[in-house]
Order: sequence, then C-alpha cells, then structure tokens
Amino acid sequence: MNPPVSSILSVAPGLPFGQAALAEGYAPAQVWYCRFDKTVYQDEDYLGHGIALPSAIAGSALKRRGEYLAGRIAADRVLTALGYPRFDLRPGEDRSPCWPQGIQGALTHHASLAICIGWSRPEREVAGLGIDIETLIGPPRGHDLWPGIISVEERAFFTTLPLPFATCLTLAFSAKESLFKALYPLISRYFDFLDSKVIYLRDNRITLELLVALAPNLPAGSRFECGYAVEGDDVLTVLSLGA
Ligand SMILES: CC(C)(COP(=O)(O)OP(=O)(O)OC[C@H]1O[C@@H](n2cnc3c(N)ncnc32)[C@H](O)[C@@H]1OP(=O)(O)O)[C@@H](O)C(=O)NCCC(=O)NCCS
Repeated sequence: MNPPVSSILSVAPGLPFGQAALAEGYAPAQVWYCRFDKTVYQDEDYLGHGIALPSAIAGSALKRRGEYLAGRIAADRVLTALGYPRFDLRPGEDRSPCWPQGIQGALTHHASLAICIGWSRPEREVAGLGIDIETLIGPPRGHDLWPGIISVEERAFFTTLPLPFATCLTLAFSAKESLFKALYPLISRYFDFLDSKVIYLRDNRITLELLVALAPNLPAGSRFECGYAVEGDDVLTVLSLGA
C-alpha cells in the first residue's frame, strides 16, 4: 500500500531564507515556515495534521484551502513555542487571525511557502509584527501596478538605487503589507499603500514613513524599520515594532 500523500512537505523553525540577515530584527519573536505542494492538496490533510477547517475557508478555492492549512501548521508551531499548544487560530470577520490574549503575530503565504511569526506582546504602547512574502512583480505587471503601490517620488528614489526597479517595487509592496499587518490589530482600520512611503532601502533594511496620521500615537511622520531578503524571484519582509 502506498503511504498517504500530504500537501505538507516540511515544517521548520526560522525563515525559509534571509535568516542570517534578518533574525536580529525580529528577536525575540518565534518564526516557523511550512513548505507545501498545492497540486496534491486534499481536505483530508486538515485531519491528518490536526488542524480545524473553518466553514469560511471550506467553501473557498482549493489553492486557498491549501495555503490556509500550511499557514495554520506554521502558526501551530509558533503558538506551541509560546505556550499555546493546539490553539485553534480562527480567522476574524475581517480575515485577521484571532490570536490568544497577550500574543501578537502575523502570517503570510505564496504558492508553496507559508510563514508565521509571533511573540508575547511587549509592554509597549505600539507593538506589533508583520511578515510578507511576494513573488517578483516584473514587467509588464509592475508598469501597470506601480502607481497604486508607490508615489512618483518613491519611483524617482528607486532609480537612484543599485537594485532593479522590479525588486524595489516588490520590496515596497511587501514592506507596506508587513506594516499593514503589524498596525491593523492596533488600529482596526484599513489604510492604503500610498499612506506610507519608502525613505530608505538598502542592505536588507527598508524604512517606511507614514504620510497620514493613523491614530493619536501614530502621527504622520512615524517611521518603521523593516528587514528584507531576496532569493531568486521571492522577496520577504519582516517588521517588528516595540521589541
Ligand atoms: C490582508 C492582506 C494584507 C494580506 O496580504 P496578501 O499579500 O494578500 O497575503 P498574505 O498571504 O501575505 O497574507 C495573508 C494573511 O494576512 C493575514 N491578515 C488578513 N487580514 C489581516 C488584517 N486585517 N490584519 C492583519 N493580518 C491580516 C491573515 O493571516 C492572512 O492569512 P490567512 O487568511 O491564511 O490567515 C491584504 O490582502 C489586504 O487586505 N490588504 C488591504 C490593506 C492594504 O494592503 N493596505 C496597503 C498596505 S499599507
């Protein structure tokens, strides 16, 4: 009899790439990642890994069910390390994960990888975690999409950098998504890509500056440091506030 095939290929601590350059930036958070193969995904994989399939996800596309499972497996490892084994990390109505009281975290996935970061909430007014993985937004998509992601000023700034424009654009997109994931749980409101701008991008560090006030303790001009790594066509950003 053949062994059962699972879409989950591996689960490991740390980041899938960029670990050496980025680890210091998010200490003392826990990070786990999960590699998966969406082509062999089946709903039985949830049972096999002891993960609940919420009704909101059960009706979604196969790809979505597969990535959600991989993300929850990575989150399960993070939560176990933080003292919450077997915690059922439900999605809220706004899609943000409902972390246990006192825990902050973030999730990201792309076609074959899911990553989760989490920590016990630091005793700081503004504290949060964001993580995001993206596949390179190359031409012609980048040419069509950039005005929704960066300003004309940021675009001009990117031409002064040694990285290709597609890499800068994808990094800007990813860093802004990481910022959103870190801030949304604090402010419970959406904000736009053009509400922040990249003012520094070099040597695995991106600095973002808010162009609008998002809360009394998050005025326009607030700055956020984000780590980044690039491997092949994948970019990864990690943002931690209040460590
Ligand atoms: C939520 C959002 C950030 C997800 O980003 P993405 O690149 O499409 O997808 P990722 O795989 O990287 O991240 C998805 C995960 O984000 C998390 N997420 C979803 N909504 C979230 C929110 N409001 N706050 C924090 N995290 C959220 C979830 O964990 C989700 O995975 P899951 O559904 O499997 O649990 C994005 O789709 C979105 O809605 N953005 C709107 C706001 C925005 O982007 N503003 C511009 C940035 S400044």
